[in-house]
Amino acid sequence: MEALERYGHVQEEYQHLGGYEVEARAREVLHGLGFEDAVIDGDVGALSGGWKMRVAIAKILLGKFDVLLLDEPTNHLDIESIVWLERFLKSVPSTIFMTSHDRDFMNRIVTRIVEIDAGEIITYTGNYDFYVREREVREANQEAAYARQQAKLAKEQRFIDRFSAHAAKAAQVQSRVKALEKIEKIEPPRKRKVVNFDFRNPPRSGDDVAMLEHVDKRFGSKVIYDDFNFHVRRRERWCVMGKNGAGKSTLLKMVVGALPPDDGTVRLGAALKLGYFSQQSLDLLDRDLTVWEQMQRDFPLESIGALRNLLGAFQFSGDDPDKKIRSLSGGEKSRLIMARMLLEPPNFLVLDEPTNHLDLATKEMLVEALKDFEGTMLFVSHDRTFLRGLANRVLELAGEEHDRPMTFGGSYVEYVERTGREAPGVHA
Ligand SMILES: Nc1ncnc2c1ncn2[C@@H]1O[C@H](COP(=O)(O)OP(=O)(O)OP(=O)(O)O)[C@@H](O)[C@H]1O
Ligand SMILES: [Mg+2]
Repeated sequence: MEALERYGHVQEEYQHLGGYEVEARAREVLHGLGFEDAVIDGDVGALSGGWKMRVAIAKILLGKFDVLLLDEPTNHLDIESIVWLERFLKSVPSTIFMTSHDRDFMNRIVTRIVEIDAGEIITYTGNYDFYVREREVREANQEAAYARQQAKLAKEQRFIDRFSAHAAKAAQVQSRVKALEKIEKIEPPRKRKVVNFDFRNPPRSGDDVAMLEHVDKRFGSKVIYDDFNFHVRRRERWCVMGKNGAGKSTLLKMVVGALPPDDGTVRLGAALKLGYFSQQSLDLLDRDLTVWEQMQRDFPLESIGALRNLLGAFQFSGDDPDKKIRSLSGGEKSRLIMARMLLEPPNFLVLDEPTNHLDLATKEMLVEALKDFEGTMLFVSHDRTFLRGLANRVLELAGEEHDRPMTFGGSYVEYVERTGREAPGVHA
């Protein structure tokens, strides 16, 4: 009886707090993020990385809020969901305060940028491209002001040096010294340290790099690949497009031999040196070593200068190399792994979302470095800057537009032009 009474109270309160409407709104937000009803009612534990991230975002978007705080919301999301999130965030009336390393995402959403640089905070009123332009103008102005002041200071100093021994000019010299001390000194603009690293060329591989023939792969009753044929040739840079859960990571795992196909064959060509990056690679580092110790252990014959330079190119400067690996952030770990992989570059790079957690400077450095890469690449990335900069072939996995994987023989830029969308499932 008591229980029944309590149930009545609780139910009333639930209704009062809007519990029943929340369910309807939850479904709406979840549908927006691509969830089907069967998945909504299913278990979160069984979802892939990208889908777990969507659940986390849906939880936040459901609340009523005046201010939204988002820390890298696009990590792990496929482009389809990123575009949805872009549109959603543009439509909410709340204030948004977020961090992001996704340049396209920022350009479409933000109206202000706060830069934190060595303890100083500078605000820019505009999107990311505006910020980059303004920062250049600002630095040029500061550089000019600094040069002018230095010239003036030198002139004053010359006067003082010249007449300091003259009794007749003593008063004048004194007042100039005082004036000089009072001038507020302009600092030269802090130069962003860009360490260029000359990446070595990998040994040349054979012309055929990876051959998949009649490949079948399923998990339980779910068919991921059915009679799939795919051929990667030397110097091709394939990006694999597909929604979260489409089978991108599964393909890369089969190519590197980490997962066997159920049927069919996966073969690698002659003289291949394989480099594989995935989020699991982060766990293969020795947590008890420092960054520097790890590098020295991996490359005992390499000169200290070359190692330092390489770490610098991946933004490890100052005391950073002395940090213990256990205390590194996700982005720092990714940078360390990419640095290790690229010191003696493999000629076939297989990369599963290498840019997650990476900051923009590292990402841009990587795009630049890999543009001249003479090997072959097969990669998954949801970062459009990375896709635009590197992919010269596109593999689009099955989706609502077509039920078999499709290959596109041009770059990502051409793919977007041709199909009119940035990813499968994105409707213009
Ligand atoms: N070991 C496994 N056992 C059962 N199902 C699996 C297993 N590995 C993957 N799957 C399922 O196979 C499908 C494809 O997974 P995969 O990891 O290749 O997707 P993805 O395209 O990389 O997705 P994301 O963009 O989220 O990383 C998903 O539905 C996933 O849940
Ligand atoms: Mg994946």
